[in-house]
Amino acid sequence: MPAQLISGTQLSQQLRADVARRAAALTAAGTPPGLAVILVGEDPASQVYVRNKVKACADTGIVSTLERYAATLSEADLLVRIAALNADPSVHGILVQMPLPRHIDPAKVIDAISTRKDVDGFSVQSAGELMAGLPGFRPCTPFGCMKMIESTGVPIKGKHAVVIGRSNTVGKPMALLLLQANATVTICHSSTPDLAYHTRQADIVVAAVGKRNTLTADMVKPGAIVIDVGMNRDDDGKLCGDVDFAGVQDIAGWITPVPGGVGPMTITMLLVNTLESAEGK
Ligand code: GUN
Repeated sequence: MPAQLISGTQLSQQLRADVARRAAALTAAGTPPGLAVILVGEDPASQVYVRNKVKACADTGIVSTLERYAATLSEADLLVRIAALNADPSVHGILVQMPLPRHIDPAKVIDAISTRKDVDGFSVQSAGELMAGLPGFRPCTPFGCMKMIESTGVPIKGKHAVVIGRSNTVGKPMALLLLQANATVTICHSSTPDLAYHTRQADIVVAAVGKRNTLTADMVKPGAIVIDVGMNRDDDGKLCGDVDFAGVQDIAGWITPVPGGVGPMTITMLLVNTLESAEGK
């Protein structure tokens, strides 16, 4: 039997309807939720991402501001701007789109954002909160992946999860979230000698590598939940993930598509984080 599809588009619709309802309540009470987005430079992909984030805010009643700066903006000027947004009570979330121009240190910029407004969950403080199991903002992509896994109704507790990829924004926080949900977690990466040995034992696989066909049908345990974080192009220029969807869908129990899977969920969890920041959670 082919795998059941976990649609990020559908799950996003449900979650965004809830965000819109709660945002309307905050607005009626006089504190509309606010997100400040900063884009430095002209990176084409970043422009698309930022446009999608701003539109998603408008669709759900979150007030967003977009500040665009030339690639020549100095690090000092960017830090001054972030300090002003930190002090602005109408701003509940601050997002500086990555990548930044090479002369700006992203770590310095991320850590200049107030922990209470770090809706990307990228700061060292937010990472530490996740590590320690304390409340705080969770990075949007792994947070969205957890919602997708939960949506299957399969209990995560006691399952073996394999995360492929160890980035600070996806792989590492994903592993910690699964661990917090009582999964047994293996993290695989580019130096793992036999990736298939690990993935074949996994009840849950999260592929976050950025390389297509990283996970093929022969590497998947029948019935597994397969979450594809990849965003790649195939030889025809078509968007595809890290998973060989056509092959793996015959083996897995659940699978996320690309597009229409993790992508929309990342933006949805940004909305959730911004809303919860405004709610004071
Ligand atoms: N660039 C690519 N993805 C992201 C993201 O989720 N947040 C930020 N700030 N920059 C990105």
